[in-house]
Amino acid sequence: MSDQGARPIGLFDSGIGGMTVLREVRRLLPAEDLIYLADQARCPYGSRSPDELRAIAAACAAWLIARGAKLVVIACNTASAAALADLRCRFPETPFVGMVPPVKPAASRTRSGVVGVLATPATLAGDLLRDVISRWAEGVRVIEQACPGLVEQIEKGALDTPETRALLRSYVTPLLEAGADTIVLGCTHYPLLLPQLRAIAGDDTLILDAAPAVAQRVVQIVKERSLMRDVNPLSGIITCATTGDPEHFANLIHRLDLPCDRVEQAVITIDA
Ligand code: DGL
Repeated sequence: MSDQGARPIGLFDSGIGGMTVLREVRRLLPAEDLIYLADQARCPYGSRSPDELRAIAAACAAWLIARGAKLVVIACNTASAAALADLRCRFPETPFVGMVPPVKPAASRTRSGVVGVLATPATLAGDLLRDVISRWAEGVRVIEQACPGLVEQIEKGALDTPETRALLRSYVTPLLEAGADTIVLGCTHYPLLLPQLRAIAGDDTLILDAAPAVAQRVVQIVKERSLMRDVNPLSGIITCATTGDPEHFANLIHRLDLPCDRVEQAVITIDA
């Protein structure tokens, strides 16, 4: 077994949202150990400034690298938008996989020519999304919808409540009324509201999540760089750590049926 291969794949997000990415990575790479950092002490990220987000992302990545991560997935559109380039410069030895709302497949699949993007304010303000829209969505109307409050509801575990459904409806209805037939989930928390979103948007609306493509990119890098774990246990261990309350985190992921073998407390220090 190569030393590299034996190390875990690291992922981080502001909370449980990035577990929707972890779930896909686990599906494609079941033998890999995964270590997930949920920075719930600083959640939500979506209204923070780029400078703040870069400092937070650097601390999260450093924590995962200190835990032996051989590759880091920024399982968060908001942190990717602010910090992907910065993290690659700070930690040149570590491969990073970032995320951007999947506007490219949306633009090629829409029939109405109108695509709605649900994301946090910081993701919508970032250059990554701007670049993707200008490169891949020519001739398509892309409507950006910030969704303040949704991440907080999800983190509370208030998924199927009248308040959450009303909030979601207030964000999605204008997109549908404008003719959107494709909705892009531009935040890793939002796939956790898929049943509620489907109930509002109907069966004919295409709803796109970037997590499967991100997991495929992880597989590709792991293979290219010979980082694959070359023993074959039945399954790798999934360790989750939170800067918030481990008991709340454990209850939440259990309720949402997200994969995890153990939950720990993490403490990270942010450089000002
Ligand atoms: N799940 C994150 C994202 O993909 C962060 C949301 C937040 O903390 O505001 O953007």
